[in-house]
Amino acid sequence: MLKNFWYAVEFSTAVTTKPNQITLMGQHYVLYRDANRQVVALDDRCAHRGAALSGGWVEEGCLRCPYHGWKYQSDGVCTQIPANEADVPIPKRARVETYPVQEKYGFVWLFVGDLPEQECPSIPPFPEFGDPAWRQVQGEYVWKAHYTRVIESGLDTSHAPFVHAAFFNNRNDAEVWDYEVQSEAWSTSATVRTKPPKRVGLLKYIVKRDRPFSSAKLTVYMPNINRIALDFNFRGYQYVYFATNIPVDENTTLTKWIGVRNFLTQPWADYNSIKNTVDTYLEDKAVIEAQEPRVVPYGVTEEVLVASDNLLVAYRKLLRKFLDQGWGIGDYSTKAEHKQALLEKAEYNQLSFEHVATPSLDQPIEATKV
Ligand code: FES
Ligand SMILES: [Fe+2]
Repeated sequence: MLKNFWYAVEFSTAVTTKPNQITLMGQHYVLYRDANRQVVALDDRCAHRGAALSGGWVEEGCLRCPYHGWKYQSDGVCTQIPANEADVPIPKRARVETYPVQEKYGFVWLFVGDLPEQECPSIPPFPEFGDPAWRQVQGEYVWKAHYTRVIESGLDTSHAPFVHAAFFNNRNDAEVWDYEVQSEAWSTSATVRTKPPKRVGLLKYIVKRDRPFSSAKLTVYMPNINRIALDFNFRGYQYVYFATNIPVDENTTLTKWIGVRNFLTQPWADYNSIKNTVDTYLEDKAVIEAQEPRVVPYGVTEEVLVASDNLLVAYRKLLRKFLDQGWGIGDYSTKAEHKQALLEKAEYNQLSFEHVATPSLDQPIEATKV
């Protein structure tokens, strides 16, 4: 995963005075609300003998370890060791690490990094959230896949006729029109025009088209947010999917998503809205969980990318930018490792290194048919 970013790790409503464990790339944190209803994030490991504090409970805004009852304030300092005599001072090292948290857009965001927060990317925008013109639903699901593969599935429309054939009934018409990629410092997006899908679910209420195409604006906000904004090409009807793909470990991604729509805003339509999203996930899951290698490659030569993949190329370029500035933790290869792998491959093929093209992500791939 990447450090120095805010991670949306849990729905706000799920964080209460009952401690809640969350996991980022194998590292456990505990979230709870203190006496002021403020969310507190601590390392989920007691300084005493490593018990999970999330198994404990909150007393007067402090967290009590379930093993020997050490009591921690919201600044991570231990204020009581029940097994000690009352006049024994508490060791200075009896404390656990705390992390900055914010609540925004219905999520709790946790900052993981070693730079001052002000120097780091901020929480991305979600302007439709909380707007009464938009009806909101939410949910979560788990993928046995690395989160980079999950993110890329949300940047790709060319799989739709194959993976989502029931919805996009157009396998014989799967060509993707050229699109422009727009990259910023920590996000990249593209508006992709799509052929109108066969009408099912909520869409069966949409009978007349304004244009010969619909469109989807696909965005990734680094490090792990997919935003998919669908314009149904009818009376301004739109649906926005905003998802945090939480990197639980190298092979597990927990997606927590909020979907907002500006049409059929009555509660009776929620069921169908949620079902459409979950059905789409189940179809994606089957292919994404089988992708190898698990993490998207550092270079662009390992896989054969074509014009319709240009948005993924832009994402990989951003990913490499942060890896090259040392923000990768754990699960990625680095530039040096990638070069070494190329060298080994070259030796294996009995080629000199000069003959191995250095992959470049600087140019988008030509929009030629392959
Ligand atoms: S391990 Fe937490 S109090 Fe002993
Ligand atoms: Fe998909």
